[in-house]
Amino acid sequence: MAIVEAHDLTKVFNGRKAVDSLDLEIEEGEFFGLLGPNGAGKSTTVAMLSTILRPTRGTVTIAGYDIKRQAKEIRRLIGVVPQEFGLYDELTAAENLAYFGKLHGVEGGKLKVRIEELLRLVQLQDRANDLVKTFSGGMKHRLNLVVGLIHEPKLLFLDEPTTGLDPQARLAVWELIKRFQSEGVTILLTTHYMEEADYLCERVAIMDRGKVIALDSPARLKRSIGKLEVIEVKARKVTKKVLNELRKLKGVRKAARTTEGLRVLTPAANEVMARVVTLASFAGVQIDSLNVAQPTLEDVFIKLTGKTLRD
Ligand SMILES: Nc1ncnc2c1ncn2[C@@H]1O[C@H](COP(=O)(O)OP(=O)(O)OP(=O)(O)O)[C@@H](O)[C@H]1O
Ligand SMILES: [Mg+2]
Repeated sequence: MAIVEAHDLTKVFNGRKAVDSLDLEIEEGEFFGLLGPNGAGKSTTVAMLSTILRPTRGTVTIAGYDIKRQAKEIRRLIGVVPQEFGLYDELTAAENLAYFGKLHGVEGGKLKVRIEELLRLVQLQDRANDLVKTFSGGMKHRLNLVVGLIHEPKLLFLDEPTTGLDPQARLAVWELIKRFQSEGVTILLTTHYMEEADYLCERVAIMDRGKVIALDSPARLKRSIGKLEVIEVKARKVTKKVLNELRKLKGVRKAARTTEGLRVLTPAANEVMARVVTLASFAGVQIDSLNVAQPTLEDVFIKLTGKTLRD
């Protein structure tokens, strides 16, 4: 039996569907990802699956319990790491963990041992008795990650756990959450970083505008690009107008702007590269580099929606 089963899950806010008829099954022990741009409906999905928000329509069971009728049983089994910090600045690291432990009915010697374990896991054992307000951003971030683990949940929701971190801190968090999984915790992670979903997740649901538009392992998603090739263009000052002209070029299936320049999907990379160069020189766009790249999850998203995850 799947640990998460959602069917036709829908949330309407003011007449707009934030989550639109989502079907999802997550197996016990799996590392599952929801990948999508801002506003795709990731946090709303997590809020419904974790019993915080009532669905407008649809059914969800967590480990066989129904979210509408058995929320209490479910809350014992799940941990939530929200997108915004949930820590108390005026408490110490250990006091924060004790507070959340007691909320979940963990007490006494068991609580003490668990606090020590978790602080060691995030290398804050020496700072156990310091107030959280004296912590650096990275330290708060690490502590926030383990708060949701205090009661040893079977299923952990991580909502954008690395947003805003620098690349080095992000790597440290990745290694940490991989350890959570290796201790037997099922993980549902949301992210808008395609590298993160690719590196961590066994299966990924790509979301856009409330809908799941693709769901598979990262490798199979990337293979779904099929015979298309990806041209990666590093260039500055690519305007909307240039992008629109590029999209009209013969052989261009999809094109989207990225932070570095452009990505172009085409069945004929060599011919299209020459056309891109010509167009760029007419338009006064300076190309720094141009090459055929391996498909990424970003390209899967571009193929399906015509835009990038950051658009
Ligand atoms: N409480 C609310 N009331 C009204 N609209 C909401 C509410 N919460 C979310 N929405 C809307 O629902 C849509 C999905 O939002 P959600 O926060 O789930 O997206 P997300 O994928 O988590 O985005 P992000 O990457 O920015 O966190 C958005 O259009 C958002 O404005
Ligand atoms: Mg969100």
